[in-house]
Amino acid sequence: RSIYRLRCGSNSRTASAADLSPHAAVCYRSCMNRPKRSTSPPSAPRSVLFVCLGNICRSPLAEGIFRACIAAHSSAPPLHVDSAGTGGWHVGEPPDPRSCEVARRHGISLEQQRARRVQPSDFEIFDLIVAMDASNLRDLEALQRQHGGGARLARLRDWDPDPDTGDVPDPYYGRADGFAHVFTLVERACRALANEVIGSA
Ligand code: 4NP
Repeated sequence: RSIYRLRCGSNSRTASAADLSPHAAVCYRSCMNRPKRSTSPPSAPRSVLFVCLGNICRSPLAEGIFRACIAAHSSAPPLHVDSAGTGGWHVGEPPDPRSCEVARRHGISLEQQRARRVQPSDFEIFDLIVAMDASNLRDLEALQRQHGGGARLARLRDWDPDPDTGDVPDPYYGRADGFAHVFTLVERACRALANEVIGSA
């Protein structure tokens, strides 16, 4: 737990403007080939970025589940979907094996994903940036205040019909069954988000 608190603490430090400069980390995924944010109104996002702290547990699951929800709809518009973390400790790594395992049990592969960190350009590129918890959302709001960009920010469980705390809990230091719980929460909200995105297309 203490390591976790330390890392959470250093997260706000590492999320500074200097660290998030496009020149700060060579291992960031290039943003050069990504589409520019569309001019669609906020109710019809064409690009969605899921964000958690490390981009190895929750947001890769959200990306994989949301992609599967969209793929299940023949009428889905083309969407740009990605995930990222506010912290940079796992940049370049595949998702946590526990996330991969729970996704695999539901027929979803996360193996191709690699962790990357949120970049200032994400606030220009994405119509909608979806945080897993309130802390991620606060970090994103601070970055957007610093760097600008028109992305709409939200929490994933804003779409959950039964949102309780509103957060997707961080399972990283918990037991394996925490990942099954996270899958349930993320899937329920992603289904609702996908229905809204497709319904408003
Ligand atoms: P995530 O989980 O934010 O859902 O990817 C975490 C992964 C790694 C760490 C914290 C949370 N970490 O401190 O390294």
